[in-house]
Amino acid sequence: HAPLRVALVGLGTVGGGVIRLLETNGDLIARRAGCPIQIVAISARDRNKDRGVDLSPYEWVDDMTTLATRDDVDVVVELIGGADGPALTLARQCLTLGKPFVTANKAMLAHHGLDLARLAEQGGIALKYEAAVAGGIPVIKGMREGAAANEISRVYGILNGTCNYILTTMEKEGRGFDEVLKEAQDLGYAEADPSFDIDGVDAAHKLTILASLAFGTELDFDAVATTGIRHVIAADIAEAAALGFRIRLVGMAQNGPDGLFQRVHPMLVPLDHPLAHVDGSLNAVVAEGNFVGRLFFQGRGAGDGPTASAVVADLIDVARDEYGDAFAMPVAALTPQNTADVGAR
Ligand code: NDP
Ligand code: HSE
Repeated sequence: HAPLRVALVGLGTVGGGVIRLLETNGDLIARRAGCPIQIVAISARDRNKDRGVDLSPYEWVDDMTTLATRDDVDVVVELIGGADGPALTLARQCLTLGKPFVTANKAMLAHHGLDLARLAEQGGIALKYEAAVAGGIPVIKGMREGAAANEISRVYGILNGTCNYILTTMEKEGRGFDEVLKEAQDLGYAEADPSFDIDGVDAAHKLTILASLAFGTELDFDAVATTGIRHVIAADIAEAAALGFRIRLVGMAQNGPDGLFQRVHPMLVPLDHPLAHVDGSLNAVVAEGNFVGRLFFQGRGAGDGPTASAVVADLIDVARDEYGDAFAMPVAALTPQNTADVGAR
């Protein structure tokens, strides 16, 4: 079969991971996809940066806006980041002009996911984003497909690898916040602006997406009450431990009589709950369905390898022509959120 020809935009932590993964596992991916998956064009800001991977086989493109109309590109992968700006422009162009689009950009989806899904739907174009929530864990597939027959009462979990790495490393090694944050950045876990991680915004972006999948509601980032871990100190962690708890940044969306209750904040997790044992850059998502019961997804939530794994899984779906509505149902079938009043945000 003819190869699936990929334009890769963004060559940082995740983009580099995608190149390495396709190089390493190319043969088995081709067998699973039914055709080779081949990067044909690449783009980023700085053409001369050393990225630790050989980019010579790929065509460098200065103007990424040309990609949506190129006949020799079958799918565009966006790994730039940012809710607006070039990522959003590229997404709109691709989906308007009929180019399948794969992204890891939860910020963009949390703010513009509905509009993008509408464009994808109008053109019958793939919009795939497995890497946007919980890195390597196939939680979008799990919620969108695996749990699709269930009424979900609650979805919650540890959705930010950077914060989990900071909290658990502070606890285990008694090291300071700033030092461990720097380490998380060096390991490629953090966002370009790490305040998105430590202020809970990144977890709120992911919860916005998960809530839509779980409850069939429109995405509403502003409905998530968000507090991060900036003010958690070593003494808080020690006090919690003395009482038999661990502190984790948890995102939770819960349907109740007053509507959908969505929040992200540091929570005291009892030691007998599985989330208390999710350490380092691991993420975990729990979903409670009326027929399936409790689902527990766990895996590496950040970093090049796990995230690339999710991006390439999306590419395999595109190659197989296996995709459907971005948010599990047509946009018109999503209901507006009946947001519970969670008090002062
Ligand atoms: P990086 O900061 O490592 O890489 C971003 C890339 O985008 C760089 O190659 C950069 O170019 C390029 N870029 C930035 N701005 C522009 C621009 N204006 N025009 C062209 N290229 C641009 O980010 P990550 O790889 O960590 O993240 C990429 C995306 O994946 C983000 O949406 C992030 O939220 C998401 N994500 C990241 C995860 C992780 O663990 N890191 C996990 C899950 C999702 P240059 O290198 O030349 O500066
Ligand atoms: N900065 C994010 C995190 C990357 O730490 O979880 C994965 O989405």
